[in-house]
Order: sequence, then C-alpha cells, then structure tokens
Amino acid sequence: MTQAFQKIAAIRGMNDLLPGDSARWERFEDLVRDWLRGYGYRNVRTPVLEHTRLFTRGIGEVTDIVEKEMYTFTDSLNGESLTLRPEMTAGIVRASIEHNLLYDRPHRVYSIGPVFRHERPQRGRYRQFHQIDVEALGLAGPDIDAELIVMLARLWKRLGLTDVRLELNSLGQPVERAAHRAALIAHLEKHRDILDEDGKRRLYTNPLRVLDTKNAAMQEMADSAPRLFDFLGEASRAHFDGVCQRLVDAGVDYRLNPRLVRGLDYYNLTVFEWVTDRLGSQGTVCGGGRYDGLIELLGGKAAPAVGFAIGMERLLDLWEQTLADEGRQPACEPECDVYVVHQGDQAQRLAAQAAETLRDAGFSVVVHAGSSGFKSQFKRADASGARVAVILGSDEVANRTAGVKFLRGAIEQESAQQQIALDRLAEVVGAALSTK
Ligand code: HAM
Repeated sequence: MTQAFQKIAAIRGMNDLLPGDSARWERFEDLVRDWLRGYGYRNVRTPVLEHTRLFTRGIGEVTDIVEKEMYTFTDSLNGESLTLRPEMTAGIVRASIEHNLLYDRPHRVYSIGPVFRHERPQRGRYRQFHQIDVEALGLAGPDIDAELIVMLARLWKRLGLTDVRLELNSLGQPVERAAHRAALIAHLEKHRDILDEDGKRRLYTNPLRVLDTKNAAMQEMADSAPRLFDFLGEASRAHFDGVCQRLVDAGVDYRLNPRLVRGLDYYNLTVFEWVTDRLGSQGTVCGGGRYDGLIELLGGKAAPAVGFAIGMERLLDLWEQTLADEGRQPACEPECDVYVVHQGDQAQRLAAQAAETLRDAGFSVVVHAGSSGFKSQFKRADASGARVAVILGSDEVANRTAGVKFLRGAIEQESAQQQIALDRLAEVVGAALSTK
C-alpha cells in the first residue's frame, strides 16, 4: 500500500507569486528601477533577518509593529533574539553606519524586497509583503522632502493612477513634541473615562497614537485635543512651509492632516502618506517622512535622513484596477519568442542545436520537452505565447531545413508555414519577430 502524503500549504498571509503574476511584478520592478535611476537612487540589499534590538530601538517599543507584529525567535545556537524585518529603514540605516556610508557624502538608496508583519490577513494586508523602500541619507532640507513626494507623483502619473491623494503633516522636533505631549496627556486625563483599553494603555506611553483611534466614541475627544502643529517652533514651521511651497511649485496637491502620526516612532518634521479609496480598508499605498534622529539612535554620527516605502501588493492591486477600468489588461508576457516542435530522436537533437543558435542571435526559445505528437506540441506552442514555431521532423533532418510557422501577427494570414534552409533560421525568425 502506498502512503498518502498530506499536502503542505503556504503560511497564512504569505503569498506565492506564480509565473503570470510574477511577470507583471518584474515588469513593474523594471519600471520602478528606471524611475529611481531618474533621481539618482542606487540599490542596496540588506538581510531579512536582524537583531531584534535594531527594531525595538529603531521603530520604538510602544508601537504596534514592535508590540505585536514581529516574527521574533531565539537563535538556538547562541540564544540571541532575531527578527524578520518588519520594515527596511532600520536595516538600511544599520548598514550605512556599519559600512561608513555616510562618512563622505549623502547617499540616495533604495531596496525592494519582502518584509514580515504578523497582522490579521485581509485584502491588502499580508504577513509577508513587499516594499519599495527609498531613503535619502545625510540630507536635511525641505527640498529633499519635497523631491521625494514629487518623485512619487511622477510614478503615479507614469502608471496612470489618478485616485491617490497626498496627506501631509509635520511632527516637529522632539522638544516640541514633548511640550505637546504634556498638554495632550492633560487632555486625555480629563477624558480618561471614555478611553478604550488601547487608549488607557497608551495614555502615558504613546499618547499621540491614542488620537489615531478608529473608536467612534473617542472621536470628539480626539478632535478637540491640542494639536501638535500649534506647538511647532519657527524652524519647524519654516521647514514645513518649505516643503509645501515646493509641492505647490510642482503642482502636487496635498491635504494637511494634523492627525497623521504614522506607526513608527522615528519620525520628526515632515510625514506623509499616499492614500486611495479604491482598496477597501487598506488604502495607504505609500508612507514615509523625515527621521533625523534615527542614525544617531542606532549608534551612528548624527545625520539627517528622509524616506518612504511603497506597499507593492497594494500598488499593483490599484494599478491593475485602473488598467481594468480603462479596458486594458496588463499584457500577458509570452514564455518565449520561439517554440521548437520536433518529431524523432534525430530531430530532437537538431532542435536543441537550432535553439542554441537562435539564443546566440538573442531570441528566447523553448524546445518542446518529451515526445508527444505534433498536434499537442502545437497546442503547447500556442499556449506559450510564442510568435514563431520552428518545426523539425525527419525530412528537415535529411534536408538540413526547418519549417517556420508564424503563430501570431500579420504574416500569419499570408503564409502559414515556410520551409527554409537551416542556416537561414535566425535570419527568418528575426524578420518574423520584427514585424508587428
Ligand atoms: P509603513 O507605513 O509601515 O512605513 O509601511 C509602508 C507601506 O507598506 C504602507 O503604506 C503599506 O502600503 C505597506 N504595508 C504595510 N503593512 C502592510 C501589510 N501588512 N500588507 C501589505 N502592505 C503593507 C514603513 O515601513 C517605513 N519604513 C517607511 C519609511 C521609509 N519611512 C522612512 N523611510
């Protein structure tokens, strides 16, 4: 009796990307890399696993991410606590300190890859998701904050997205936040009876986050709370005005949202989010801001920095919806340019050689694997999306010829199949593929 093995499924909230989707992702990533090059950003890749303390110190102990969303485990070899990165900024800052990246000049860097948060999965919210993370390290002015935002507006435009809006706020500097915090705690204490459990717990640890509540009973109290904006000093206001002016210069609309506090503690001055109503409850496609204190907090020489991260799943979802609305589907990537069908042992060997010659000429080629009949091989050729099929049988082997069949495009009507000399194969295939 054969043993039946149980199937093993992926972990909940962690998705497989199969060839169709993955081709779309690759095309999207190419576009994103091109966009980033346009602003002088260069790629960095840091490990997905880091010391837990990098995130507890960097992101903040009293944040949802650190309190409840991190995948943390103990390294059984040395007892160290390790965590799968829940975001990329802390790791990039660690790497830039460790390798003295900021020693000589500022750096514009980006990274694309998976991050992990133990959240309740739903549309747009996954436990493994992907970010395009962009960081400008060592630059202090409002010009760079605005440049990052304008850069994002350009990406939306390039993707044809119109349903994303910009929310903007300033969190000021730590001293200004401290003064506001004291006033806020006094306000919250006055309304202690209506605070929910989270609110009570955060009253003294993270009172700003109490205002970020979705609890309707607390809305009025949150609306009448002292506003951080009113506690900002001259320099913070000037920085914020500088950002706003440049957004106006660039024609980028924004909405001031004094309640925008972000879910990570490292921010100061400018914070922003790009939000859409088209993705249900998880509508933030990008978030970021300035984090001038983080480099020093993680042991580096104090230096300013600003950045953002785009949630790739959400952005791709929005992009695909937009294309579908316009009646356009993201084009399905063909597996190859040329599909080679063959019959007989000799022809199979010739097929392998002919395919190598075609690859030398720069074409992508799939040789049919196995020994099915021509009919089913042609079905596979068609399903592959190839525009040209090359046919090799015993006659072709004997005559050193090949059959070339155009599977798609205008030529299809003109001539179903041509017999050509084998040494003209690359030339004829090239001509076929260059016609629309
Ligand atoms: P964040 O707002 O935590 O910021 O995440 C950035 C983006 O990642 C969000 O706007 C959202 O699109 C996406 N995202 C977050 N959680 C999930 C999830 N569970 N599933 C799918 N997508 C999600 C940061 O991570 C900061 N490090 C951004 C930054 C870079 N600030 C400065 N530099």
